[in-house]
Amino acid sequence: MPPDMLSLLLQTVDEETGEPLSAQEIRDEIGIFLTAGHETTALGLTWAWLCLTQNPEVESRLQNELGQVLAGRTPSIADLAQLPYTQAVFEEALRLYPPVWGFSRRAVDDDTIDGYRIPAGARMMLSPYVTQRSQRYWEEPMLFRPERFLVGEEGSDQPEAYLPFGVGPRQCIGNRFALMEGVILLATIAQQVQMRRLDNEPVAATALTTLRPQQPVYLSTESRRM
Ligand code: HEM
Repeated sequence: MPPDMLSLLLQTVDEETGEPLSAQEIRDEIGIFLTAGHETTALGLTWAWLCLTQNPEVESRLQNELGQVLAGRTPSIADLAQLPYTQAVFEEALRLYPPVWGFSRRAVDDDTIDGYRIPAGARMMLSPYVTQRSQRYWEEPMLFRPERFLVGEEGSDQPEAYLPFGVGPRQCIGNRFALMEGVILLATIAQQVQMRRLDNEPVAATALTTLRPQQPVYLSTESRRM
């Protein structure tokens, strides 16, 4: 069988029962992979490119890394460790524009946080969008500065300050996959085309189920291989 996701799921055996997955379970796995894993990563890349077009010095440092490590070659998983700046660009885009801008938790017990009484059963909202732009954790939080992830600046390694994938036992199960996928796509596409904004209108973010640009972002692409 070809080594694709469907074949892997068809070969998977439930460790507890020794049974293969049912057709329904396989359908659910594929469904969640497409819904939870598609729009989130696509939006992360959309915001990353918007930030790159607004920050030419970041774009040129990214191109330097890609040129030195890949020299035009299509990246593979083995190249990821040599692409720290590319990863930092994706992480920084997920900081300023977390595709999942908020998620909730239910209080299991009565509690008091910062003087606020939280009754058992209350639903609490956490927002990566708010926290990841807070001066409490980040230096110059409104700047797109991937370097902060390279030097481990305050915030970047604090789970309560950087939580684009959520936090705790229910955090995103696709976390590592998404980073891998995002970095490989960024490296592959950025090597081939230069993107430019077609207008200079400010782009506001709008908090629907996911964090989307309020209006379409028009970019032109110019091949780098001409
Ligand atoms: C940049 C891309 C992604 C972002 C920003 C993202 C973000 C999140 C967030 C914030 C949560 C909720 C975590 C919580 O409540 O603490 C979540 C849950 C989840 N994500 Fe992702 N995700 C991404 C990519 C993916 C991918 C690629 C997959 C699958 C391949 C995936 C599958 C899931 C699943 C199954 C859950 C539910 C986990 C559970 O409730 O136990 N996500 N994601």
